[in-house]
Amino acid sequence: MKIKNICCIGAGYVGGPTMAVIAQKCPEINVTVVDINEQRIAAWNDKDVENIPIYEPGLSKVVEEARGRNLFFSTDVDKAIDKADMIFISVNTPTKTYGMGKGMAADLKFIELCARQIARVAKDDKIVVEKSTLPVRTAQALKNILDHTGNGVNYQILSNPEFLAEGTAIKDLMDPDRVLIGGDLDTAEGKEAIQALVNIYAHWVPQEQILTTNVWSSELSKLTANAFLAQRVSSINAMSELCEKTGADVDEVSRAVGMDSRIGAKFLKSSVGFGGSCFQKDILNLVYIAKSFGLDEVADYWHQVIIMNDHQKKRFAAKIVQTLFNTVSGKKIALMGWAFKKDTNDTRESAAIYVADYLLNEQADIVIYDPKVTEEQIFSDLEYLGTRSTEENRARVTVLQNPYEVCSNAHAVAVLTEWDEFQNYDWQKIYDNMLKPAFLFDGRKLLNRKEKEEIGFEFYAIGS
Ligand code: UDX
Ligand code: UDX
Repeated sequence: MKIKNICCIGAGYVGGPTMAVIAQKCPEINVTVVDINEQRIAAWNDKDVENIPIYEPGLSKVVEEARGRNLFFSTDVDKAIDKADMIFISVNTPTKTYGMGKGMAADLKFIELCARQIARVAKDDKIVVEKSTLPVRTAQALKNILDHTGNGVNYQILSNPEFLAEGTAIKDLMDPDRVLIGGDLDTAEGKEAIQALVNIYAHWVPQEQILTTNVWSSELSKLTANAFLAQRVSSINAMSELCEKTGADVDEVSRAVGMDSRIGAKFLKSSVGFGGSCFQKDILNLVYIAKSFGLDEVADYWHQVIIMNDHQKKRFAAKIVQTLFNTVSGKKIALMGWAFKKDTNDTRESAAIYVADYLLNEQADIVIYDPKVTEEQIFSDLEYLGTRSTEENRARVTVLQNPYEVCSNAHAVAVLTEWDEFQNYDWQKIYDNMLKPAFLFDGRKLLNRKEKEEIGFEFYAIGS
């Protein structure tokens, strides 16, 4: 079976880059990415490719090559579904904010809407691919909707979870550790659908790195991978607090530990807490699933990863208040970085949001600089928390484009995202323009302590 037309519903951080790379690598396949958000689609179609809505190193080049050739962005969802042999669902699945499973379970309303739309429109057989991270057994629900509300056409449901990390999405897509495809291995139709998707990735991924499993294994593997990664960060962050009490240095500990080849060096960098759209949501989802099967020990075990992460964010913010003589009321505190990690403009669940909120509760004046995040996004993140009114946020928070201006006359600077450029600043100049004593809080262990102390900073770094 040869795929000629692909449709992807959801032009977000996952759908956009993934489809751009598929289109670039498979010039004979037409790829149409659709989204209900007109503004987002307009941005993907912007004449100046640097204005596409997602900042991701290398992405604009890929889009430039494929866009208009075999990569299209559109709001005409029905038309793209109708034409496609294969439909990827890549819409967001946020944590539920209401009803049963509130604060834990994944909200699948967008997924269901997509399924109903496909069922309504499709006039011939389709392969539907889950790209969004979903609770185990969602594929079954999808199939039920498609089979019972559809026009009598046949559907094959595949699970093809995305393992790309933001900031390195293009590299991760071009050279993935593995591609995982779950499908119905028991029927000829299922195997054929799996093979159709394998053939797409085989354009650039070696066959031995393309794994095929049953659907449930694939769905659960995605949650497991994110839970394991987040658990490593929480584990090293737990150690960071102990390091601070004992005089050990968390970077030294993580280096020593990571050189054990059984443990490995990655995801052992202590931080002010992990963020991003996936880790917290997926673990909460896992916890909810475990609980719903009555597996309380399993649920509690994974929940602790989130508890540790919340503690880390809070403890960092509290450290600032405590160090500034137990009050930050009316004091100017500069925040360096708002994105949840470097090289992305994504701010979802960023630790910076929670640190800012804590400091605002203590009546600090916050000034923020991030090289890629817009002022509008920062205010919308604070508003989303709902802690205080828009006016109150606007009165206490300023966003500036110049890092030196941000720090000028500040009592303290806190580094919250590990942007490379922060290392290259003229910290002497920053120090000279700050109020004294000048405090520097490094939530990413990014800066050189000795150098900063020689300048005169009162320096605190997480985990040392
Ligand atoms: C993805 C995955 O889908 C999610 O499950 C995973 O855990 C994180 O990554 P992401 O691409 O980051 O989500 O989400 P987002 O950037 O919010 O993009 C989703 C897009 O889907 C949005 O542009 C939204 O407008 C669109 N959408 C949503 C639709 O087109 N139709 C809908 O019904 C709902
Ligand atoms: C993650 C997974 O890595 C990816 O495979 C999955 O598809 C989506 O979720 P992402 O959230 O984009 O990707 O970024 P990731 O690099 O995993 O970082 C997540 C958070 O953990 C960031 O806030 C990051 O700063 C933090 N982190 C990561 C640490 O604090 N320390 C580390 O050692 C690594």
